[in-house]
Amino acid sequence: MSETKRQRILSGIQPTGTFTLGNYIGAVRNWAALQDQFDCLYMVADLHALTVRQVPAELRAHTREAASMLLAAGIDPSRSILFVQSHVPAHTQLNWILCCNSQFGELSRMTQFKDKSAKHPDNVNGGLFTYPALMAADILIYNADLVPVGQDQSQHLELARNIAQRFNSAYSETFVLPNGYITKEGAKIMSLQDPLHKMSKSDTNVNAYILMTDTPDVILRKFKRAVTDSEGIVRADPAEKPGVTNLMSIYSVFTGKDFEEIQREFEGRGYGEFKEAVAETVISALAPIQGEYNRILADKAYVDGILAQGAAAASRLADRMVAKVYKKVGLLQI
Ligand code: TYM
Repeated sequence: MSETKRQRILSGIQPTGTFTLGNYIGAVRNWAALQDQFDCLYMVADLHALTVRQVPAELRAHTREAASMLLAAGIDPSRSILFVQSHVPAHTQLNWILCCNSQFGELSRMTQFKDKSAKHPDNVNGGLFTYPALMAADILIYNADLVPVGQDQSQHLELARNIAQRFNSAYSETFVLPNGYITKEGAKIMSLQDPLHKMSKSDTNVNAYILMTDTPDVILRKFKRAVTDSEGIVRADPAEKPGVTNLMSIYSVFTGKDFEEIQREFEGRGYGEFKEAVAETVISALAPIQGEYNRILADKAYVDGILAQGAAAASRLADRMVAKVYKKVGLLQI
């Protein structure tokens, strides 16, 4: 009887503040579900967060909060490896090797680099530029087959594949070429205030995003204020009605209803009622996660214990890969 090896998953999230509903729908929601079928590693990407200036005490707090939120969202530490990126130094070791195998031209083409440099013109640092090489290291170091992310990370993933391919052909087969796992619905949740842009926690307008920790009245208020259009009909049309379509995507994710069913459900009813229904489904989906989150966050020793265990397990895998890569590129082993 042949036993097929389970495929491996890796994904990460930056601890730059409380997660948004976009993070949850686009990525984290899928992470828990994937644990049944795959060997999963999930990471709080604190090193990535440093590409933008952070308040040190806040970064520390946000890192523990991020880990707590992942546990609350269903990451099970007895089945998956949950860790903090900086706790596994091998990532930065591989990062250097991959930087030396990344081209200036390809890094310059990353839209996130262009966006973030435009947003922070006073701090266009080297880390911001080489960020995708570190992300490639995060993935390739574990030979991950699949990477569950939102749409905005697909360009970085493509680059990780290119770097892996280049390395393999220069130094012999070493890295698995990773594939994105991007679900069709919810891959890009848009801002509630400007539905042509993605929902992002760095938005200056707090009404643009729903945070995972928002209270029911705040969630309701933000949805009520969501930008729609003047047609007054609940129907999907991404080009002409991006606001309504975005709300329909959110509703669809939590109710399992497709766009046609949603359109029928709200036929002859106005946006006010529709927005309230969307808010209600989000409030009830988040309530159990919020309860768990508060309980877990209060138990610092528990969270830190999980992270220590995760770092040790991840390091065992990552150190092995770094030793292999160091040898392949010709670094002297003594
Ligand atoms: P980050 O922290 O910006 O976002 C975490 C995850 O949430 C997804 N996401 C969204 N999905 C749908 N709609 C949105 N509005 C939305 N906003 C965010 C992102 O696509 C992502 O999947 N570079 C990564 C973190 C990272 C990583 C990795 C991911 C570091 N190393 C290795 C995968 C593998 C980032 O900044 O994600």
